[in-house]
Amino acid sequence: MLGATPQTMGQQLGRRSWAEPWKIKMVEPLRVITRDERERALRAAGYNTFLLKSDDVYIDLLTDSGTNAMSDRQWAGMLLGDEAYAGSRNFYHLEAAMQKYYGYKYLTPTHQGRGAEHILSQIAVKPGQFVCGNMYFTTTRLHQELAGGMFTDVIIDEAHDPASLHPFKGNVDLRKVQALIDQVGAQNIAYLSLAVTVNMAGGQPVSMANARELRALCNQHGIKIFLDATRALENAFFIQEREAGYQNKTLAEILREFCSYTDGATMSAKKDSLANIGGWLALNDEELFQEASNLVVVYEGLHTYGGMAGRDMEALAIGIEESAQDDHMRARIGQVRYLGDLLTDWGIPIVLPVGGHAIFLDARAFYPHIPQDEFPAQTLAAELYLDSGIRAMERGIVSAGRNAQTGDHNRPKLELTRLTIPRRVYTQAHMDVVAEAVKAVYEHRATTRGLKMAFEPKYLRFFQARFERL
Ligand code: F0G
Repeated sequence: MLGATPQTMGQQLGRRSWAEPWKIKMVEPLRVITRDERERALRAAGYNTFLLKSDDVYIDLLTDSGTNAMSDRQWAGMLLGDEAYAGSRNFYHLEAAMQKYYGYKYLTPTHQGRGAEHILSQIAVKPGQFVCGNMYFTTTRLHQELAGGMFTDVIIDEAHDPASLHPFKGNVDLRKVQALIDQVGAQNIAYLSLAVTVNMAGGQPVSMANARELRALCNQHGIKIFLDATRALENAFFIQEREAGYQNKTLAEILREFCSYTDGATMSAKKDSLANIGGWLALNDEELFQEASNLVVVYEGLHTYGGMAGRDMEALAIGIEESAQDDHMRARIGQVRYLGDLLTDWGIPIVLPVGGHAIFLDARAFYPHIPQDEFPAQTLAAELYLDSGIRAMERGIVSAGRNAQTGDHNRPKLELTRLTIPRRVYTQAHMDVVAEAVKAVYEHRATTRGLKMAFEPKYLRFFQARFERL
């Protein structure tokens, strides 16, 4: 049994608002540098927030990856690390937690999500095959392409429209999958790459019905489904909230059912699982697992640690359990929505409905006068830092990279700047400050100019590209 009928703390007390199911025991001081210093820091960073020093940042909303606050139980677990090279006890705790909550048979730990993506792509993609997915993710698609695969987007059209209020904007369009099967043949499709929630679409969820129908379609054609489970518990929250028949199920039960429609998963444990580092690849097929388990020793480490320290596996095992608690998730998503509601009330264009892990500012609507080739979302992230020391991330044309065949920019419909909320880290008052900063930048939007790219690295350019002001 994965928990009883969800009853949150708020319901027990007869009130409906969310509050964090924890109190703060240790704090980390913040610092704000002057506007002149921020101007210098931004120029030195080539207008790329990835190249700023963390010490020069006030509120860090770059990512929710590895930036979560661990609980006292997780920190206690860190002291129980069994740093044996082989067969660490913490590996078995992690394996048991993954099996209990995600329900897959076999576990291969990796240093983080992209380690798992690399291994899965190497064992499951043959050169020239197609991989279809519900919108690309940067590292996932790159590993599929480096393995010789060709990525095809099969997400529903609504996902590309920041204003569409579809409740499950991350859903796969089954007609697009069928069309690809008809066109290239199922044998030329490596697998279906299903991400929940969909990061690049704004943290948008996938419904249980969609996963179930997808399973049926893929069964007909012998196509495997591999889940990107990075934020699958956040996805479960939206199913519980929005999908008929799931209101009285726990997040843990919803997660188990969802995963049961897939053949395995890659995981960046730095998100949902409340850890600072770690990841895994889980598989149900024994033969495929043997291949993964063999390849992990080439790239990551022995198959019972895969690049993680024993203590990190312990913190992760505990984090998996904490992340599956309904109260935790209600407060987590509640905080993201609080920020979204403030911005929406002030008429600031964001992706709606608000998703799981972040608020995505619609940079096209924010700066209609800046053409996409002058990087409006990158510009907005730079302006926000300059105004208030808040660090956001570009999720638009820079992140989309170049077309592997033609070499031209990929030009995504969504040109977004992401305010990503780390879990259990900032307070509601911090969210107020963030909203005020976005409003200040919005008020100066008419005089803001775009950027030009001055340096472009070959892979995942958004991490290291440099820009200059136009
Ligand atoms: N899949 C998704 C959906 C992700 O969001 C990420 C990372 C990964 C895979 C890769 O995992 O970083 O552990 O190697 N996303 C981070 C972000 C970097 O900021 O969205 P990783």
